[in-house]
Amino acid sequence: MQIFETIRLVQQQITAYKKAGKTIGFVPTMGALHEGHLALMRQAKSGNDILVVSIFVNPIQFNNPADLEKYPRTLEKDKAMLREIECDVLFAPDVSEMYPQPDNTTYHFGKLATVMEGAFRPGHFNGVAVVVRKLFEILTPDKAYFGEKDFQQLAIIQSLVMQFDIPVQIIPCSIIREKDGLAMSSRNIRLSKDERAVAPKIYEILKKSVSLRKVLSPFEMEQYASKELQKIELFDLEYVTIADDIGLQAFAHWNDVSGARIFVALQLGKVRLIDNVRIF
Ligand code: PAJ
Repeated sequence: MQIFETIRLVQQQITAYKKAGKTIGFVPTMGALHEGHLALMRQAKSGNDILVVSIFVNPIQFNNPADLEKYPRTLEKDKAMLREIECDVLFAPDVSEMYPQPDNTTYHFGKLATVMEGAFRPGHFNGVAVVVRKLFEILTPDKAYFGEKDFQQLAIIQSLVMQFDIPVQIIPCSIIREKDGLAMSSRNIRLSKDERAVAPKIYEILKKSVSLRKVLSPFEMEQYASKELQKIELFDLEYVTIADDIGLQAFAHWNDVSGARIFVALQLGKVRLIDNVRIF
């Protein structure tokens, strides 16, 4: 695996690959890698000649300074995992390399960015859009892989690519979970033993809610999930939202939309967790 910390050197290598006719599959990450990330990478490896991974904890997408400061950084372990899966290129720039001066570009995603994470984390998606667009420009991948764990982020990236005609194909990847159902996340290692023990309730409650689709309206399902989640003492619920799986907007009747998901964000101790489950 080749490791690059500068834009100039990684671009040289990418140009060489392209000249040799190789296709590039790209997985952007913030490190603290886990099986969820590796699943994306395996898909990227099997769909392309070259796997490029980036590790960059992007400061401008953190609306909460404490979250940025506490974000797990495990670069040496990450490198070992990447070598193990035979990643070809790791791009791991530092902040001054990515932002020699502040990037104040403002993106517009309409209603996509006003709901859920967009409402609860002001500026978050703008920061994601800035860094992902920059990474696409630097690495010029043929395909880029994003997890449905961050379903709204995936929708934002699809919109970014369409708005700016970026020549990359976005490949969505399903959520990878621990055996007990907890969606894998870099933040999970910050959970205490007690918090970790109740965390699987999130998925359990979402799944139970989804199973009641024939007897509950979207509004009633939302109410049900919200009530069940609020029963768990350690959960500090931010939102439970049922939305269509394209525009991510609320709707009144199941047959108003072609697909729907239930989304949740909550604080568990000092850790903020999100998850979602497909309804149909
Ligand atoms: P990060 O949280 O490191 O996630 C990197 C990618 O891994 C994202 O596409 C995310 O959806 C995916 N992922 C994380 N956990 C997953 C799981 N349990 N199952 C499936 N996929 C999972 O998302 C980011 O970084 C950043 O916002 C980034 C896109 C890198 C921009 O800074």
